[in-house]
Amino acid sequence: MKDRTIILALYYSLYGNVFALMKEAAAAAAEVPGTEVRLRRVPELIPEAVIRENEAMSKARARQADVPLAGLDELAGCDGLLLGAPTRFGNMCSQMRNFLDQTGGLWQKGALAGKPAGLLTSTNTMHGGQETTLVSMAFTLLHHGMVIVGVPYTVPELSTTRGGGTPYGASRLAGEAGSPPSPEETAIARALGKRLAEIAVRLKG
Ligand SMILES: Cc1cc2nc3c(=O)[nH]c(=O)nc-3n(C[C@H](O)[C@H](O)[C@H](O)COP(=O)(O)O)c2cc1C
Repeated sequence: MKDRTIILALYYSLYGNVFALMKEAAAAAAEVPGTEVRLRRVPELIPEAVIRENEAMSKARARQADVPLAGLDELAGCDGLLLGAPTRFGNMCSQMRNFLDQTGGLWQKGALAGKPAGLLTSTNTMHGGQETTLVSMAFTLLHHGMVIVGVPYTVPELSTTRGGGTPYGASRLAGEAGSPPSPEETAIARALGKRLAEIAVRLKG
């Protein structure tokens, strides 16, 4: 039997917004025949005591308790990547930056070259940097030789959304802690997950 196409759905989420969006993209990727999706989070950098004392952070942490931490070997071994991180001052969060900064060895080996990647983020404000955050992640992945998969305007919700969703990747305007993305944000995240998985299957051949 042909090997399954491994999609790594790798993310960081402090309050759960990126987590919720990533689950939609990952679910759509898993519906593409021949794929196996692995949902993983990158390690935390915030001190445990800070998280324990913050109710919203603690609750979001509890909702993600079942998601394993990612290893660099899993990144090297994937056939396609969904990468999600919240916006920090218009950029990716330090937890994701820190994880990616450990991938120099993979870069030297060209371990990710030619593999497709799709990007996801979340912000608190409409014009708070969704596109810049998505592009900030693309910069690193382009250095790795990855093929960035965006969202085409053939996805109707890209033209009708009043919240998140961009041609550079899926995104959302954060809501109440634990709330789901809007229907348009969900449709765009699912379209990205499906597209990324279909391209990964084709590239693997
Ligand atoms: C230090 C810090 C910086 C942030 N910077 C921005 C920003 O530049 N623009 C914005 O709209 N939201 C910003 N936010 C809000 C987060 O991006 C937003 O809450 C996001 O939805 C969190 O995703 P998560 O729930 O997956 O952790 C910032 C939050 C923190 C803690």
